Amino acid sequence: MVRTLNKKSFALSALVAASLMASGAIAQTSETDPRNEVYKDKFSKQYDSWHATSESVEVIDALEADPNLVILWAGYGFAKDYNKARGHHYAVTDLRATLRTGAPKSAEDGPMPMACWSCKSPDVPRVIEEQGEDGYFSGKWAKGGAEIVNTIGCADCHEKGKSKLRISRPFAERGFEAIGTPFDEASRKDKQSMVCAQCHVEYYFEKTKDRKGFVKFPWDGGTTVEAMETYYDALEFADWTHAVSKTPMLKAQHPGYETWKLGMHGKNNVSCTDCHMPRVKSPEGRKFTDHKVGNPFDRFEETCGTCHEQSKEFMVNLDKERKAKVKEIQLKAEKQLVHAHFEAGAAWKAGATEAEMKPILTDIRHAQWRWDYAIASHGVASHAPDEALRVLGTAVSKAADARIKLAHLLTAKGVKQPIALPDISTKAKAQAALGMDMKKMNADKKEFLENVVPKWDEEAKKREATY
Ligand code: HEC
Ligand code: HEC
Ligand code: HEC
Ligand code: HEC
Repeated sequence: MVRTLNKKSFALSALVAASLMASGAIAQTSETDPRNEVYKDKFSKQYDSWHATSESVEVIDALEADPNLVILWAGYGFAKDYNKARGHHYAVTDLRATLRTGAPKSAEDGPMPMACWSCKSPDVPRVIEEQGEDGYFSGKWAKGGAEIVNTIGCADCHEKGKSKLRISRPFAERGFEAIGTPFDEASRKDKQSMVCAQCHVEYYFEKTKDRKGFVKFPWDGGTTVEAMETYYDALEFADWTHAVSKTPMLKAQHPGYETWKLGMHGKNNVSCTDCHMPRVKSPEGRKFTDHKVGNPFDRFEETCGTCHEQSKEFMVNLDKERKAKVKEIQLKAEKQLVHAHFEAGAAWKAGATEAEMKPILTDIRHAQWRWDYAIASHGVASHAPDEALRVLGTAVSKAADARIKLAHLLTAKGVKQPIALPDISTKAKAQAALGMDMKKMNADKKEFLENVVPKWDEEAKKREATY
């Protein structure tokens, strides 16, 4: 009952909004005001703490820190540019600035589709309500440039003008239904994590007859690494073909919700909010939810300290140890995978056939999917260290399976081994080894940011002035 109602209300709101828009009666949907500033006075404590996510300003270049990543993502956007996550305040800014979104000159230019905006802004539910999912998901990323402008905020998680939580994206609601937890039937604790799971999850872009380019969570068979792998294999889905090994690859997004569920806290339903958005006291002694989503250790007494007696120092050290252990196995998996990609490249050059390569490429695909699932789940070492180590262990072993098969194949083809790696000791060297023209990409991006983006902002300002 609740399920159908939910779907209907999404569809209905889109319809009503579309007809109102057509008649010129409103310029904004009735369910979403994407502008965070309008809540500045009414909910000042929540607004101010939300705004403080802007203090998490540091950009860490993940490719610089670990050039293996360039090779693992060869032929895919992530090999161009990939930074670690920072404050919610920067979601739209960072998406515009990354080389992955390219330098489109018109609304029809690529490379990315509209779906890439989906976890960045409360303008996403606004546009879905106005145009339906078909309208929102059609076309290239640049089509949304002047539409998707407000960063992650109130309307992503709340009903309009209220403290009541909501799921603002119909594709997220479909994901929750697939695993048997429609939002309206979920407990308050569940809801506190589900609002985050609209974005901090694994997803891909559908290519079915009815749903072209829609975001989908691959949860129909469950949310474990194995269940999602089986799901993707059954669809023969690939995000891209690896430039060196020609493997049909999967790119994990950020299955943070899925991995959190498998950790000790997820199992005990300690919510994302318990650690990242604690209840705190204002100077006047009034309790409220701190909306500065960030590092839980910055507010230890209100987060970990509400349930645990250990000192902050003890917990921080434990967390560091866990991060170091996960990193150790992560790097082992990467080393195996980098070799496997180049060895597969050498096998192709030596005349290996599709049939000979198939089992090898399947091992590489599965190994890298598992590695990526673990490390792309930001915070996994803190959320579910055991699961991270288990999954990375299977990545190492599957990459080793590929390399044993490759050694036999290369020997049969008379290729001298070991296969030497190019110099990939820095990001720039790894990108050069793949023949990537970074100079051109950076120059195009600069021009795009200077000339196209200001026009998007101007157009958005005009639209919002009519709200
Ligand atoms: C990422 C999701 C998210 C965003 C973004 C968000 N909130 Fe919240 N908000 C929550 C959660 C979670 C709670 C706590 C709900 C509970 O207690 O069960 C909450 C609680 C509240 C409450 C209830 C009172 C309180 O402090 O607990 C208000 C009011 C509120 N938010 C306003 C805002 C405003 C205004 C913005 C934008 C400036 C905003 N929220 C942005 C998730 C969000
Ligand atoms: C609308 C999508 C969306 C929602 C909802 C959302 N996030 Fe995020 N989150 C992001 C994106 C995108 C980034 C990366 C932003 C960047 O680097 O520019 C991010 C970054 C983060 C970070 C890193 C912050 C830092 O300062 O390093 C944390 C922690 C985080 N989110 C936790 C949460 C939690 C907890 C919730 C729920 C209360 C939540 N997020 C809800 C999309 C979302
Ligand atoms: C028991 C407490 C706890 C819970 C529950 C929890 N987290 Fe975390 N989370 C942490 C800690 C601790 C870190 C590491 C903080 C750091 O080093 O910056 C972290 C890190 C993260 C990061 C990476 C931040 C970065 O900049 O690398 C994201 C994103 C994140 N958590 C999101 C979530 C989401 C989404 C949920 C719920 C599905 C969740 N967390 C549940 C404690 C928690
Ligand atoms: C809302 C309560 C709550 C909060 C907040 C919380 N925990 Fe826990 N924690 C639990 C529960 C419940 C368990 C399950 C085992 C138990 O009962 O001790 C647990 C277990 C643990 C364990 C041992 C299990 C394991 O992971 O191996 C560690 C370590 C831990 N928590 C660290 C933290 C840290 C660090 C934070 C803050 C970032 C935190 N917790 C925040 C409730 C909480």
